[in-house]
Amino acid sequence: ARLVVLISGSGSNLAALLEACADPGYGATVVAVGADRDGIAGLDRATAAGLPTFVERVKDHPSREAWDAALTQHVAEHKPDLVISAGFLKLVGDRFLAAFGDRYLNTHNALLPAFPGIHGPRDALAYGVKLAGATLFFVDAGVDTGPIVAQTAVPVLDDDTEDTLTERIKVAERRQLVDTVGRLVREGWTITGRKVTIP
Ligand code: GRF
Repeated sequence: ARLVVLISGSGSNLAALLEACADPGYGATVVAVGADRDGIAGLDRATAAGLPTFVERVKDHPSREAWDAALTQHVAEHKPDLVISAGFLKLVGDRFLAAFGDRYLNTHNALLPAFPGIHGPRDALAYGVKLAGATLFFVDAGVDTGPIVAQTAVPVLDDDTEDTLTERIKVAERRQLVDTVGRLVREGWTITGRKVTIP
């Protein structure tokens, strides 16, 4: 299966996927990496792995719709079976969702529907929950609202800071991403309403 991975940051989730894909039995290959900004470590990782990369910045387009169309076009060129947002910090638009909506995964660093948005660990800590974690879901038109594929919980410890909790979540998040993407590509999936089933 062909994976296109979208990133905005360090790309540690991307690195975990690349490592998994090195095993032919895993069943997937990362064929391209896209970003919404330059100068991020994740793009360097992709280049070092010999992968094609592309960058589409919103500010280089006359409108958000034009950006969405350009991003859709770039991703489509690589004919992905799955598109994975791994720390990609942009909400895609209608065009993108029409093309990839049933196969566009996002990994989020909180147990949805609690703590959507970009500060999952910080918000979980501020609320005082005792369990935090990561959620893998198919993206829909909302913000962190799509059908959930997998969740992994980690404890919140008394002496946690935002950094220590974020790091504990990221370890679980990477394992969940690699394990679940592997199952999806090898076994397929169906989405019925909000229910995702891997046969
Ligand atoms: C992930 O924890 C994701 O949930 C959050 O940003 C992080 C991406 O990290 N939105 P990386 O770029 O894969 O290292």
